[in-house]
Amino acid sequence: MKSSIVKAYEANEFNQVLDEILHPGGLELTKKTAESAGIQNGDLVLDIASGRGSSACFISDVFDCRVIGTDLSLESSSLARKKAQKLPLSNKAEFCLADAESLPFADSVFDAVITECAFSLFPDKTTVAREIIRVLKPGGKFSMSDVILNHPLISDLKDEVLFNCCFTGALTKDGYIEVFSKAGLEYDLFEDHSIELKKIALRLISGYGSLNDFWKQFAGRSISCCSTVKNGTDPQIEWKRLFAESKPGYAVFSFRKPL
Ligand SMILES: C[S@@+](CC[C@H](N)C(=O)[O-])C[C@H]1O[C@@H](n2cnc3c(N)ncnc32)[C@H](O)[C@@H]1O
Repeated sequence: MKSSIVKAYEANEFNQVLDEILHPGGLELTKKTAESAGIQNGDLVLDIASGRGSSACFISDVFDCRVIGTDLSLESSSLARKKAQKLPLSNKAEFCLADAESLPFADSVFDAVITECAFSLFPDKTTVAREIIRVLKPGGKFSMSDVILNHPLISDLKDEVLFNCCFTGALTKDGYIEVFSKAGLEYDLFEDHSIELKKIALRLISGYGSLNDFWKQFAGRSISCCSTVKNGTDPQIEWKRLFAESKPGYAVFSFRKPL
């Protein structure tokens, strides 16, 4: 399952149309996410699931701090490293291959941790939340932006649509707060940015004609977000049901590790 998620976001189709910034709101929302994590000059920051490194490079530059980006995609991590070398920011933005469920860092080393449009994709959210609090310094902040569901998915849809995309893996606002609170983080902030989800859909539509045409490119490839478990089911119909039922939005959250 993890490899099909990773393949989806390695695809050039996504990266070209979104300029290698694979989350709603672009770098403007990245700035807000970084601000809500309290990132300061000189901090050591972790960006989990950093993709092709656009946000990590941006934050290291704008906030004059050191950012380590981790991702489960070897290809994206190596492209991120090349991007940092080219800018040149490789003394401030570094990248390594790592599963969010098992971060290769000692306890209490990061001043701040962020993740953008990725927590929803992690199958074992409890383990990732525990990893985040483990690597944060006491008093350090974690911020993320991600898809939120305004209504939890309660129908058979969850079994029909492969559980490997941000919409099927997203939680409600309360669901996210519960996962992080149980891991020991203190809830700090919630900001609704659902308008950014509409804007990103419009960018895909203007690049491809329709969302349907965008998804069609992935047909026949073992990539998430474009197929259903049941043979013969039209993915478009399932997607429409999923949107109608869960009414997804997009939001920024922040949490603090107690002192
Ligand atoms: C929607 S993209 C977001 C990338 C980046 N944060 C951005 O905003 O441009 C999701 C990213 O999560 C990564 N990913 C998925 N599952 C992961 C896991 N278990 N551990 C680490 N990275 C993962 C994917 O490879 C992909 O780069």
